[in-house]
Amino acid sequence: RTIESLGSLHGKRVIVRCDLNVPLKDGQITDDGRVRASLPTLKALVEQGARLVIVSHLGRPDGQVNPKYSLAPVAARLAELIGSPVAFATDTVGESAQAAVAALADGDIVVLENLRFNAGETSKVDAERVAFATELSALGDALVSDGFGVVHRKQASVFDLAQILPSAAGLLIAAELDVLDRLTEKPEAPYTVILGGSKVSDKLGVIGHLLPRVNSLLIGGGMLFTFLAAQGHKVGASLLEVDQIETVRGYLAEAERLGVKIVLPTDVVVASKFGADAEYVTTPADQIEDTPFGAAGLGLDIGPDTAAAFAAIIRESKTVFWNGPMGVFELAPFADGTRTVAAALTEVNGLSVVGGGDSAAAVRILGFNDDQFGHISTGGGASLEFLEGKRLPGLEVLGWQ
Ligand code: 3PG
Repeated sequence: RTIESLGSLHGKRVIVRCDLNVPLKDGQITDDGRVRASLPTLKALVEQGARLVIVSHLGRPDGQVNPKYSLAPVAARLAELIGSPVAFATDTVGESAQAAVAALADGDIVVLENLRFNAGETSKVDAERVAFATELSALGDALVSDGFGVVHRKQASVFDLAQILPSAAGLLIAAELDVLDRLTEKPEAPYTVILGGSKVSDKLGVIGHLLPRVNSLLIGGGMLFTFLAAQGHKVGASLLEVDQIETVRGYLAEAERLGVKIVLPTDVVVASKFGADAEYVTTPADQIEDTPFGAAGLGLDIGPDTAAAFAAIIRESKTVFWNGPMGVFELAPFADGTRTVAAALTEVNGLSVVGGGDSAAAVRILGFNDDQFGHISTGGGASLEFLEGKRLPGLEVLGWQ
């Protein structure tokens, strides 16, 4: 269902579910890519004279009001980018939201406070989600769902609300699927997927489904230590999902059976602690506890040999999908792995796609331009699950899968 299928939206209150989950540092947005990516839909709706009620999540505040995750700075940034005033409601379905929505004139915009300050948004209990979605639905006549980054979540504003209000997908979802379809329908070989980042449990889950679809899988970021542990290596104080070690052993065996290369780091950067002022050394990946920091050592980036090996595979590939930074790129000493991988992606003679809020932020913060890559997707987990061939609740409910 497209926006046109909703008929004339002139004068209608349209709830627009965006993914404005942007990275913030000290209250400042460090990458506004997701706000920019939302603009085409918002502008198209404003042009029609709709009254826009924008909703989004930011971070994972777990159903609690937490000023650290307020969307207020995002509303301010949106006003700058769209070039007109944007109102902000300090709650999502309460008095502030109701008053702000009632005050909208045709073409006006309000951003409501973080959806995830309400436990109903992410509840696993259907009735709780439906109850929250019903409260939200009172604020709109129709729903345009455009938060591609969150379509893999069965959450109230993504799934349940679309069943209550007349609903359609926005232009961002359509544009994202256009590119991602090219990765799922006959991707040109060699096809390489690079996985990193910090949402380790989410990403370990997708590997089993990705294996039969790719030629090489390069593993960096937080999940690499679970792979090293699965090979019997000690990983010091690095991020480790102990209960996933057996699963990962299964992936390594399955990759061998399928003839897929899982490429693991041969060296890592190990730090004395988490921080820009930490001491750090590069060490072979099987000797993480043999540094001066012993078992307290913390792996925070892939090493230069690994980065060079990854870069060589990436440059030879015809199709590349990258999700998740290779290390803690926000801290200068641990940004090199991510920088080297990003640079290699810019040299791919084929389709290169960077997926996810953190990876997109990383390439921009490290000084690359969007047009150096085939596509920068706003979806991290969402695009990975799409590539796995999974059905995504937020797409299915709109008739897009
Ligand atoms: C993302 O950053 O991938 C999306 O905004 C979804 O966020 P979530 O993983 O917290 O649901």
